[in-house]
Amino acid sequence: MAVLVTGGAGYIGSHTVAELLEAGEEVVVVDNLTTGHREAVLGGKLYVGDLRDQEFLSRVFDENEIESVVHFAASSLVGESMQHPGNYYSNNVYGTLCLLEQMNRSGVKRIVFSSTAATYGEPEQVPVPETSRTAPTNAYGDTKLAMEAMIRWFDPAHGIKSVSLRYFNAAGAHENGRIGEDHRPETHLIPLILQVPLGQREQVTIYGDDYPTEDGTCIRDYLHVSDLADAHIRALRYLREGGSSDVFNLGSGQGFSVKQMIEAARRVTGHPIPDVTIPRRAGDPAVLIASSDKAQRVLGWKLTRDRLETIVESAWNWHRSHPNGYGD
Ligand code: UFG
Repeated sequence: MAVLVTGGAGYIGSHTVAELLEAGEEVVVVDNLTTGHREAVLGGKLYVGDLRDQEFLSRVFDENEIESVVHFAASSLVGESMQHPGNYYSNNVYGTLCLLEQMNRSGVKRIVFSSTAATYGEPEQVPVPETSRTAPTNAYGDTKLAMEAMIRWFDPAHGIKSVSLRYFNAAGAHENGRIGEDHRPETHLIPLILQVPLGQREQVTIYGDDYPTEDGTCIRDYLHVSDLADAHIRALRYLREGGSSDVFNLGSGQGFSVKQMIEAARRVTGHPIPDVTIPRRAGDPAVLIASSDKAQRVLGWKLTRDRLETIVESAWNWHRSHPNGYGD
């Protein structure tokens, strides 16, 4: 019996595949490699193709005994989603519909879904609990909310049980040094900061220092990608034990500002990392911090890498040994 991981060649997907393999699971990966990397898949069976290709997807389900699905495959750039919303609804929402229909045809009854804090939009309260209002401020977050809703309706209708995991800011890299973060283009703060000590960028850009926070820069909740991967294994276990469909936040419960992140990277790399401040990036909430109490209570999930330096160090190890990502 195998676990199907869609988007298993992506950043969080590949770390979850690694974790599943370590737990002794049989893994089947589906990825169209638009943004994923073949080299990131450390084991299991890789099928290269798109969820919207029904012939392809039914072949994957016919050739393997799939018992659960962990679903990452999606487009995930906020800015791009505002320029090309149609592509996001097609790849994310329609892709998920195709997956759910195939699961239903094949009698697969469990799915763990990779959702996002972007479903909340500008948060009503911080730390953000799962009961907060969901009001995405960008098309990406809206597609994830639509995917969650669709997945939820497949439970009463078809008995497909689901866990949606709303992540805050995934960061860092696997301790084995073989997999890490490689987005093209890169838009995430930590890899961009580390491009300065790597000599690939003169300075890091701070998007606004006039937010209502202590140092004026945005505060985010960064959590190690392996802790995040571990939550998927626990969610799977929860569903296998008969848990009901639910939604969980995943974050560290701690917030760090952009300036604090740059400072941490200076400490870890020993490089001065010059910075320059420009106006705010559209759609960035000032503060996003998760309340993950529910995941801890119900899934038994625990943060094991809670020091900011540990996260930045693991990212630095990866970027230093793979300055061009998987292109090396
Ligand atoms: N930032 C900078 N300079 C940069 C890049 C980022 O100052 O060069 C700032 C951003 O303004 C933000 C913080 O650093 O305040 C973190 O930005 P990221 O782009 O790394 O991450 P986001 O918080 O914008 O996005 C993350 C995920 C998204 C998800 C979102 C949910 O990457 O997929 O959280 O709010 F949608």
